Amino acid sequence: MSVAGNERGRMTSPSLDRSEALWKRAQRVIPGGVYGHQNAGAHGERHPKFLARGEGSRVWDVDGNEYVDWMCAYGPMVLGYRNSVVDRAVAEQMELGDTLSLPGEAMVEYAEALVAKTAGMDWAIFGKNGADVTSWAIDTARAQTGKSKVVKVRNAYHGARPWTIPVLPGVPPHHRDELIEVVWNDVEGLRSVFAEEGDAIACVILTPYDHQLHHAELPSEGWYRAVRSLCDEHDAVFVMDDVRAGFRFDLAGSHVYFNAAPDLVCYSKAIANGYALSAGLGVEALRPAAERIFFTGSFFFQSSAFAAASATLAEMERTDAVGTIHRIGQLLIDGLEAQAESFGEPLVSTGPAAMPSFHFGDDPEYARFKRWCDAATEQGAYLHPGHNWFVSAAHTEEDVDRTLEATERAFEELRSSG
Ligand SMILES: Cc1ncc(COP(=O)(O)O)c(C=O)c1O
Repeated sequence: MSVAGNERGRMTSPSLDRSEALWKRAQRVIPGGVYGHQNAGAHGERHPKFLARGEGSRVWDVDGNEYVDWMCAYGPMVLGYRNSVVDRAVAEQMELGDTLSLPGEAMVEYAEALVAKTAGMDWAIFGKNGADVTSWAIDTARAQTGKSKVVKVRNAYHGARPWTIPVLPGVPPHHRDELIEVVWNDVEGLRSVFAEEGDAIACVILTPYDHQLHHAELPSEGWYRAVRSLCDEHDAVFVMDDVRAGFRFDLAGSHVYFNAAPDLVCYSKAIANGYALSAGLGVEALRPAAERIFFTGSFFFQSSAFAAASATLAEMERTDAVGTIHRIGQLLIDGLEAQAESFGEPLVSTGPAAMPSFHFGDDPEYARFKRWCDAATEQGAYLHPGHNWFVSAAHTEEDVDRTLEATERAFEELRSSG
């Protein structure tokens, strides 16, 4: 471990030399260096660009600097890095083989456990990434209804696929012809969309709450009731995209926590604690449509991922992981709010405790927030300036304390630099 500064955390700037050297090498052989969310080049110059390892709630960059990690690999790490129960289940499966020519027992066992656990769902299918199953859900809804239009919330992210990706280069415009965007919680807007186009709408796809990049908005009273009744009236399918929030609110599905009644549920990120797996679940009435969809991938049937997912579910239940996540997340939010107040900084917290979202109220371009996250990251708390953060069951009160030391120095820096 090489942490610059004293035992309570670093004060001096850590070296990022290896990170920067790797970045240069990457740029020569990988377009852009690193692509997608994990491109830390966009996060701030004091953020490391490559990590070497993780353990529990902590990660170490390739220069050996340690961080309390509030991104949890963008969600998957729900029990912490290198969880011994999950990793042992994977190791045992690997002794038997992993990607074979047919699925193994681990898939059926996990399907049984997940279907039994998920409120209102009768069957499950599996892919790898979140976009596999959100796109599968759209196909299933279209097969079921014989209609083609998809209603989603403006700026809501459902994956990097032509029908939904927010960045348009490379996507011919016709891919968006079938997309209708509405405003979160705008019941009247949704009603008028259905009044005009109900005959063509195959589905409404929503996240359990609106988790946009800097702001989160919870469902208003009546939003999910309206979604359900409009879908029923117009023979449309209600898809819950629980890819990001799943397993951080209720193991029976975030739709239970937020009081929604979807027809299809999409999971990925957290369900296998970092091993690659996504799941789509559905109500009985959609089983025939799901049977007609051609859905496959070379690695969809890897047994190790199912072993990891079964162990994750059991371990989360055994340890009340969701309770821990909410308790620690709230400590973090309360601590940051109190600290910001003492510095006179207008820190605004919008996300629920399990997935906090922050910004400064007087900083519409998020430039000061970015500087603050960069300074805190340099001091050992890995904070993302343009995405919600994630809390895991491996985070502790000590992690919150360590983070508050880092953010205190970041607030001091903001104060002295203006
Ligand atoms: C709500 C939501 N849906 C779908 C996806 C796509 O998941 P993946 O990146 O695994 O394809 C994401 C990814 O961040 C997401 O947050």
